[in-house]
Amino acid sequence: MTNWWRDAVVYQVYVRSFADGDGDGIGDLAGIRERLPHLVSLGVDAVWLTPFYPSPMADGGYDVADYRDVDPTFGTLADFDALLARAHELGLRVLVDVVPNHTSDQHEWFAAALAAAPGDPARDRYLFRDGRGERGELPPNDWESVFGGPAWTRVADGQWYLHLFDPRQPDLNWRNPQVRADFREVLAFWLDRGVDGFRIDVAHGMIKHPELPDTGLDEQISLLGHGELPYFDQDEVHEIYRDWRQLFDSYRGERIGVAEAWASTSERLARYVRPDELHQAFNFALLEAPWSAPDFRRVVVESLATTAEVGATTTWVLGNHDVQRPVTRYGDGDLGSRRARAAALFSFALPGSVYVYQGEELGLPEVLDLPDDVRQDPIWTRSGGTDPGRDGCRVPMPWSGDAPPFGFSSGESWLPLPEEWKTATVAEQESSGDSVLRTYRDALALRRAIPALGDGELEWVDTPEGVLAFRRGPDFVCATNFGTEPVALELPGELLCRSDAATGWNGVLPGSTAVWLGKIHEESA
Ligand code: NOJ
Repeated sequence: MTNWWRDAVVYQVYVRSFADGDGDGIGDLAGIRERLPHLVSLGVDAVWLTPFYPSPMADGGYDVADYRDVDPTFGTLADFDALLARAHELGLRVLVDVVPNHTSDQHEWFAAALAAAPGDPARDRYLFRDGRGERGELPPNDWESVFGGPAWTRVADGQWYLHLFDPRQPDLNWRNPQVRADFREVLAFWLDRGVDGFRIDVAHGMIKHPELPDTGLDEQISLLGHGELPYFDQDEVHEIYRDWRQLFDSYRGERIGVAEAWASTSERLARYVRPDELHQAFNFALLEAPWSAPDFRRVVVESLATTAEVGATTTWVLGNHDVQRPVTRYGDGDLGSRRARAAALFSFALPGSVYVYQGEELGLPEVLDLPDDVRQDPIWTRSGGTDPGRDGCRVPMPWSGDAPPFGFSSGESWLPLPEEWKTATVAEQESSGDSVLRTYRDALALRRAIPALGDGELEWVDTPEGVLAFRRGPDFVCATNFGTEPVALELPGELLCRSDAATGWNGVLPGSTAVWLGKIHEESA
């Protein structure tokens, strides 16, 4: 057993936006295979692929119509096998997304449910209910969709079905044995093909309170990940993961499950990674923390303590395809860029596993000014155009060249890339000594070379206000200045890496900067 996931660096590929192999403007599996060398030189251990299954794309593929195939836009099962084989040859593990909370409304089960009468077993795979009000004209309860509006939609015969997301994503009934049995087969289908594990979408949502009670709350969505709701994080959901864990363990090669789980406290989140359940859960606490020393310290202390209690390690996540990119979140422009780069070094030095969302290694900002008519996120339409949604962090990767789409595709990209990304391309950053990409590569190479990094203990070092420093092992310190003014620090060790473009170390840490200090033992370098 290597327990590889305990300190793995996992790179998230948003399939539609990574690399387009066939020129239709949409990223695909063949494109990813060609670009795997980028991930090898970046120094990651594993790749997580967002959904590439047949889908009408009502929610970027998180609306799956067939869990055992590849959407023609992304390629074929043969392309998937070729990608997996190449990744394995290059020493990269591959995680795929599984979306068990809901299907697409185009899934054959939902078509069968709609064709069946109320009360028919075909409806029992989903959550159909009669409405309230004299003629059933009101939704069965007051639950809200995460994407806005009521979580219920009425069908022609008068019943309502539950969808915690878009109406085109009906929620499955996980108390139905057929649903459970079928998903086990879906997991086995991909495990047999050789995947190293799964990222589990809405892992906290599959079991709803059996009585589907009203919440009595006007504003439910702001409670996601903070408060208790009768449709999320119900105790019974853990039975599913105990069952799945047995399936994973029946395969050779340490296959893992990673929960995208929103729980009200870090203690409740840690329940997903108990020894007989999943291996990892995304820890979104750092991503949600404001750029401040006390907040970052609180998150680290709490996250490490709660996962240690169940014998697991935590994960550090600064971004993904659902949230504003860190550069923009931390203030945009030069300040946001400096902070995002420092946050990366800070998180890479922490105990546990790290997730990198594509484009973070290039320091890409959120694209805030996409034209309205190219936006595709259902949040944009469901909010009546008041919430821009998540397209701004899903703009394709710039690889090379002087003009959009910068080597992403030979055609027109599904979302336009900004002209100014000319200086952010992989090719451009490879040729520059002080680029974000270089910092990421250097830091991840050091992380591999220094045994004290990754899994293990952390010891805080006393520092002036606004600065956090922690030691990993006897010879390594990471110090981060969250303020804007330089701070003199007395810390031992030579400079290993710094997040800004400066070179050398004179004992003064500039604002919005992180440094790694220490020494590399010959035998580990
Ligand atoms: C979480 C996914 O990351 C997000 O993109 C999706 O919209 C929802 N789950 C619903 O599947």
